[in-house]
Amino acid sequence: MPYPEIRPRRLRRNAAVRRLVSETRVDPAELVVPMFVKEGLTEPRAIASLPGVLQHSRDSLRKAAVEAVQAGVGGIMLFGVPATRDETGSGGVDPAGILNVAIRDVVAEVGDATVVMSDLCLDEFTSHGHCGLLTPDGGVDNDATLAAYADMAVAQAAAGVHVVGPSGMMDGQVGVVRKALDAAGHQDVSVLAYAVKYASAFYGPFRDAVESALEGDRRTYQQDPANLRESLREVELDVAEGADMVMVKPALPYLDVVSAVRAAVDVPVAAYQVSGEYAMVEAAAANGWIDRERVMLETLTSIRRAGAQIILTYWAVEAAQLLRERY
Ligand code: PBG
Repeated sequence: MPYPEIRPRRLRRNAAVRRLVSETRVDPAELVVPMFVKEGLTEPRAIASLPGVLQHSRDSLRKAAVEAVQAGVGGIMLFGVPATRDETGSGGVDPAGILNVAIRDVVAEVGDATVVMSDLCLDEFTSHGHCGLLTPDGGVDNDATLAAYADMAVAQAAAGVHVVGPSGMMDGQVGVVRKALDAAGHQDVSVLAYAVKYASAFYGPFRDAVESALEGDRRTYQQDPANLRESLREVELDVAEGADMVMVKPALPYLDVVSAVRAAVDVPVAAYQVSGEYAMVEAAAANGWIDRERVMLETLTSIRRAGAQIILTYWAVEAAQLLRERY
């Protein structure tokens, strides 16, 4: 070896040194847990393709929200599963719709102890499962959908949500939502834009969780997994339209995108570790093929390292508990 001997292994020799020089830490305060609540349930129900994740009843959701706060998670992202659906997704706008009711329940339970967020999209509420209203020939009508999103945003804000997450990938959705919130006096409600959302097969288990009615796909509005520059354009538009935070989704297969978005904007960047990412690890772990906890924390560390400051993950509560024991 040439002198001086440069030996990077010196900084790996024991746990204390490794801890000292660790460049990335996942903080429970930056984890957000997605939760599902289903109208009419009296007991929570398991979701076969998402082991460990539940469709909550209103009661069990409140308890889970308290548990999440106790674990120290930074936020809760709520999704509603309605008992009935219609062509226009009216249950998303109705103050008595399951998601709006759940927002009220959770905010009443946890107040400002964590950030309460809601998915702002019609797909859980429409009979056809698309994220927007349909044209007569079955396409998704961008501008008619925007009007519905504006109403949905105001309904969610009236229910007390802190952050809305428009996730339908309609052009102009962030601007319309921001304007509607402001006009209704909800200037303090933030917008976490699903700015970059790919038409991904990794959403499979989520569609079981919300009992999605979708046939076909979302490729006319969600992005082509082949594209990166297009994502920077989406992010730029959303920030210009008033997004307070931007999200990339899915996470692990798109770390290059997370990293590029982080470099491109100054607003907080979130990444959504989606249902299929979670399910793959759970399935392999259930077979004894991988070490579940290590893989869980390794994926979260990688997403954080790539530049996501906020991570949505179905492991948020458990990971927060594990991380507290560790640091
Ligand atoms: C749309 C929405 C979806 C997810 C989050 N918001 C489904 C979709 O776009 O098809 C997927 C999240 C996951 O897979 O965990 N309401």
